[in-house]
Amino acid sequence: MYCTRNVTDDLIWVGADDRRLAMFEGVYSVPRGVSYNSYLLLDEKTVLFDTVDKAVESVFAENVEHALSGRDLDYLVIHHMEPDHSAALRLILARHPEATVVCNAQIEKMIHQFFGENLTAKTLLVKEGDKLSCGKHTLTFLSAPMVHWPEVMVSYDLTDKILFSADAFGTFGALNGALFADEVDFSRDYLDEARRYYTNIVGKYGVQVQALLKKAAAVQIDMICPLHGFVWRENIGEYIEKYQKWSKYEPEVNGVMIAYASVYGNTENAANILACALRDRGVKTQMFDTSVTASSEIVAAAFQFSHLVFASATYNMGVFISMDELLRDIASHNLQNRTVAFIENGSWAPTSGKLMREIIAPLKSMTILEQTISIKSSLTDGQLPELNALADALAESTNQAKISNS
Ligand code: FEO
Repeated sequence: MYCTRNVTDDLIWVGADDRRLAMFEGVYSVPRGVSYNSYLLLDEKTVLFDTVDKAVESVFAENVEHALSGRDLDYLVIHHMEPDHSAALRLILARHPEATVVCNAQIEKMIHQFFGENLTAKTLLVKEGDKLSCGKHTLTFLSAPMVHWPEVMVSYDLTDKILFSADAFGTFGALNGALFADEVDFSRDYLDEARRYYTNIVGKYGVQVQALLKKAAAVQIDMICPLHGFVWRENIGEYIEKYQKWSKYEPEVNGVMIAYASVYGNTENAANILACALRDRGVKTQMFDTSVTASSEIVAAAFQFSHLVFASATYNMGVFISMDELLRDIASHNLQNRTVAFIENGSWAPTSGKLMREIIAPLKSMTILEQTISIKSSLTDGQLPELNALADALAESTNQAKISNS
């Protein structure tokens, strides 16, 4: 049975929620599910924007047929070839061989890579700024390379001022019946998931996201229809502002995120003492145990906070496994413009401080505080002045950041 919602009078959401997926892309936990969005425009021509993941293609196919109500499918616009949006391409084109696939040359190449050369009978290749008249609506196409793959393009409906934004402006989390961001308390219930989605999926490509935001700023946008998460029709500027911040690697919170990897609790103890000392100095803190919290959540928090402290046991002469994974994840997501300090522990030869620094120091515009606290098994009374000095340095640095922000 179909399950659709109207975005506007002639634009219908034909996507679906997936609440059974454990790991999105095999890496990111999605305990609250994820939506795969597809939209059908009913004009003189009918236009389907993208398809969905294989997991939900059955209900998607029913949705499309219901929304078409017996009409032919004239155009199938493909914005992005990652299989969470393109897997149902074969099914749709089998049912609608009359459809003309609208895409750019790179997308066409990827269609061949994924499905072989014979999948599409008719293809209309479009370039930046090309227009497609569908009747009342005219679409134009803008390239958005690396948001999130190189072939990505977005569409803009010149008539209703709707941006079909591909992966941009998406969020993790099933829609649960709501379609519009203004139907939920987005800031309270979804912003953290939107940040986790952005930072982990496209966080590496800040420059390319900035390029897309620049193009978007040149047109009036009354609505954003992303491939995951809610449709935006209110407070669009606020969400774009978040994307500006995230893509420029600007922190949202002036405070200290402490991530620690502790085998027997002694490194954790030092991290806790530092957190208390920071709170005593009026500094906001957040803490994560890297062995318990998924890397994707800590990466998102690292994008959120201005100052980062990494505390790790030495393990097999290296950084403890979960911390090593986190730091490499942060580095591969291109995080920039943070102030960072380290705490190392090791019962006979602590080396994790130096090794953690080697991963983080090469990142752009990182300020590494000189004071690395080195613990031999457990923090001693004699090291408290050193730890307090680190708290002082972090507090002073966050205060300076506050002043420069004001
Ligand atoms: Fe939602 Fe890059 O695919």
